[in-house]
Amino acid sequence: MSNTATIEINGKKYEMPILTGTENEIAIDISSFRSQSGVITLDQGYKNTGSCESEITFLDGEKGILRYRGYSIEELAEKASFLEVCYLLIFGELPNKVQLEKFHNDIREQSIVADDMKKILDGFPQSAHPMGVLSSLTSALVAFNPSSVQVSSEEAMYKAIVKILGKFPVLVAWTHRKRLGYPYEYGDEDLGYVENIAKMMFKKPNKEYKSNPVVIDALDKLLILHADHEQNCSTSTVRIVGSSHAGLFASLAAGISALWGPLHGGANQAVIEMLEAIKEDGGDTKKYMGKAKDKDDPFRLMGFGHRVYKNFDPRAKIIKKSADEVLSSLGIVDPILDIAKGLEKEALEDPYFVDRKLYPNVDFYSGIIYRALNIPTEMFTVMFALGRLPGWIAQWREMRLKKEPIGRPRQLYQGYTHRPFKSVDDR
Ligand code: CMC
Repeated sequence: MSNTATIEINGKKYEMPILTGTENEIAIDISSFRSQSGVITLDQGYKNTGSCESEITFLDGEKGILRYRGYSIEELAEKASFLEVCYLLIFGELPNKVQLEKFHNDIREQSIVADDMKKILDGFPQSAHPMGVLSSLTSALVAFNPSSVQVSSEEAMYKAIVKILGKFPVLVAWTHRKRLGYPYEYGDEDLGYVENIAKMMFKKPNKEYKSNPVVIDALDKLLILHADHEQNCSTSTVRIVGSSHAGLFASLAAGISALWGPLHGGANQAVIEMLEAIKEDGGDTKKYMGKAKDKDDPFRLMGFGHRVYKNFDPRAKIIKKSADEVLSSLGIVDPILDIAKGLEKEALEDPYFVDRKLYPNVDFYSGIIYRALNIPTEMFTVMFALGRLPGWIAQWREMRLKKEPIGRPRQLYQGYTHRPFKSVDDR
């Protein structure tokens, strides 16, 4: 195959280099196209635009493959812990025992949050959406940890990374506890990373906390499944904010806001609200299938479809199995699970969904597990953020280490051409 692509405009030819990835994906490098031709490429929603070269996550949407640093998501979900996956994503290799222990200890050392942060949290109404609270608190962390990250120093980067991995779960837990009206507490440093998060979130003020291995396993798996997903909306946000050399915490706060939307991470909340509404409405799934297909109805089947997966989302397969296991281990019968399975069955047989290659995504069944773990619906997207944290960090670190230029897309202007100013009396 030729290693250049030729673009012809008005009889003039421009040669653009062709790059090949390690999985044989092919890209045309158009970075010099505008300087050569004066012409830009247009791709709303970046449906076919690569924004970077990355070594972190590979996904093949046609084949339903997802791998972190070369390891399949199925194997990682089965065999790894979330903390191992954090290390793998951020630093590129699975840690040995010594490295893992040191990483965990360094995180533990940094897991105290300035007590004044509680005053900020207290300022929010109890009804505030936890994603807004979490984004604000993450941003506020900058004020309490003002030294900017020296990206030329691996040590300074490492320190910022273990700081946020230590403090973020505390912010998540306190946000949850605020909603419940519980005192803000810490967990127990001697526990595993995820077990400690569970304790910080769920410990009742008047009762000793007993961890349930089914709950910890389910949380661990969910966090791993959400840990990275290459250049999605929130990750691209983190990279683009970081590309202006804003610090790590500020970049992450922006990523949290991007994740909040119902077309992205907010879908897990939207799925449960949709399933609840269907149940309340008598469980008539056909009616809602009809609404989803009706172009005059804004209703969409939440938890279905994906920008990249045009085959099964491999994460959804793992989560569906896990939802069955968790509910039966905890002895929970949730009618919503049956509605979800019914909807999935109908969609997979319906030409509208089949033709458009719309399959359940990661968010379709995750909410059912979160519900079983007693996590309130509004906290679901926060749990997604907790899982996505290492991915955002890894992508931010990679972007800074590679000295990527500031992100700055072009546009095709379609507004007025030059016109004279009219004074207010003449308008
Ligand atoms: N229900 C009904 N129709 C749908 C749905 C859906 N959930 N998703 C896509 N379509 C239709 C859409 O109307 C369009 O039809 P047509 O070609 O006739 O105009 C076609 O399928 C292609 O959809 P699109 O909106 O152009 O696709 P996209 O790649 O821009 O959007 C998506 C992807 C995930 C935003 C979209 O599928 C969606 O809104 N899904 C529901 C929200 C959701 O579950 N989001 C979670 C995504 S996974 C978690 C994460 O990583 O964020």
